Amino acid sequence: MNTPPRQIGEFPDWESRYQRDPIEKLPWYTVEPDGDLLATLSTRAIRKGHFLDLGTGPGTQAVWLARQGFQVTGSDLSQTALDSARHYAHDAGVEVTWVIDDILNTTLNGPFDWIFDRGCFHVLPPERRADYVATLHRLLAPGGLLLLKTFHVLETAMEGGPYRFDDATIDQLFSGHFQRLESRASRFEGAIEQQPVALFTLLAPRQPCS
Ligand SMILES: C[S@@+](CC[C@H](N)C(=O)[O-])C[C@H]1O[C@@H](n2cnc3c(N)ncnc32)[C@H](O)[C@@H]1O
Repeated sequence: MNTPPRQIGEFPDWESRYQRDPIEKLPWYTVEPDGDLLATLSTRAIRKGHFLDLGTGPGTQAVWLARQGFQVTGSDLSQTALDSARHYAHDAGVEVTWVIDDILNTTLNGPFDWIFDRGCFHVLPPERRADYVATLHRLLAPGGLLLLKTFHVLETAMEGGPYRFDDATIDQLFSGHFQRLESRASRFEGAIEQQPVALFTLLAPRQPCS
């Protein structure tokens, strides 16, 4: 029997996904720091502050940030992912605050200086994107930044998977609360050979008019 083609925007139950496969086999798994994260820290001379690694999954980026001396909170829906992340941090000898949290119904308070979202926003239901934007605006400190990494509309090789974005869509969704400072096409590093095309966007929260 032929399996039907995978559709964009069809996602697993995340907890089941983490229970099913070894963490190192997941497509997004990498122990290397994300290239766009590295570039942003370097060009913006960001060396301290409180990072939220949103949808932290295996926690590899959160642990890398903690190693650089940042205060770090890693949040995710999946208990199994966070258990794995906690072991990874323990082995690395760093402190990270791990929080089970659904960003669409969050218990996080912030404020965070920096929020890194590597692959969470692009798996959220489209009808909840406005809630995500308002929530992240509330969680970010004034002068903070959102580092957002999603699949790019140019990613056409992969069947199904996360929603794809371009600058126009990001502006449409975020411009009420954020100013886009930078964006570029890049790659999603991970455990699969053909790295998907990514859109990396750097966003600054707009301050409320007084
Ligand atoms: C593609 S994975 C990326 C994991 C991690 N950021 C990384 O780069 O290794 C997406 C992650 O988002 C988490 N996630 C999905 N929906 C979420 C939500 N509503 N709130 C918090 N985390 C969520 C999933 O459990 C999963 O770990």
